[in-house]
Amino acid sequence: MDKEYLAKRLLSGLPIMVYDFDGREEEIDMVFYGGSVSWKSIYTLRKDAGGLICYVTGKEEGQKLGLNLITDELRNYQKYSRLVKRPVYGDEPAFAMWVNHMSTRTGISDEDRAKTILELHKTIEMLQIDEKEAKEKFFNEFMAPGHVPVLLSRGLNKRRGHTELTSSLMEFLGLKKSVVIAEMLDERYSMKRQKAEIYAKNNDIPLITGKDILEVLKVA
Ligand code: 5RP
Ligand code: CA
Ligand code: ZN
Repeated sequence: MDKEYLAKRLLSGLPIMVYDFDGREEEIDMVFYGGSVSWKSIYTLRKDAGGLICYVTGKEEGQKLGLNLITDELRNYQKYSRLVKRPVYGDEPAFAMWVNHMSTRTGISDEDRAKTILELHKTIEMLQIDEKEAKEKFFNEFMAPGHVPVLLSRGLNKRRGHTELTSSLMEFLGLKKSVVIAEMLDERYSMKRQKAEIYAKNNDIPLITGKDILEVLKVA
């Protein structure tokens, strides 16, 4: 894995693709770096990937902003706790909250989602300088529910979804845990790996597997 090439690519606003694992979702997500997103990235995600466009950061970062996994929140409400279940492949989801930045209009356009994501990225960057101010920015400048789902990574020792794979990869590359991901879909079903590999080749996009990521991170 060429660290420098991948970091440069992501920082310049170009995507990578990540396959999780045989026996898990067996899906390929298109991934952009949170700090380099533009409306064009969102357009590509919805036209060429087609899945749910989510923002990913770490659980620790989320908690510093006052965000928790939605499953942990729902467990606190008798009314909703029975909704907390595991999907067929076994993982409890990584969803936390759906947000819009207050500078957006409806929140859904490519431009609006890019704005929300860039502001989320700035908030994550601000955590390093002033945690209190970052939390203030989050509560002052965002509203919920919105159109950008935030996913929180529990780390690869706890969970091995695209959420954890992509955020751990960012750490490895020396970037912030801050990416936007969406599943590559096809008509009716998820895109088959072989077809996604052709798309990656035709568009010159590196396709990285969960196995590659575990290997470079030396995670058993
Ligand atoms: C949100 C999802 C996708 O699968 C996404 O890849 C993140 O989830 P996970 O970490 O479970 O792979 O559920 O659309
Ligand atoms: Ca999932
Ligand atoms: Zn996934």
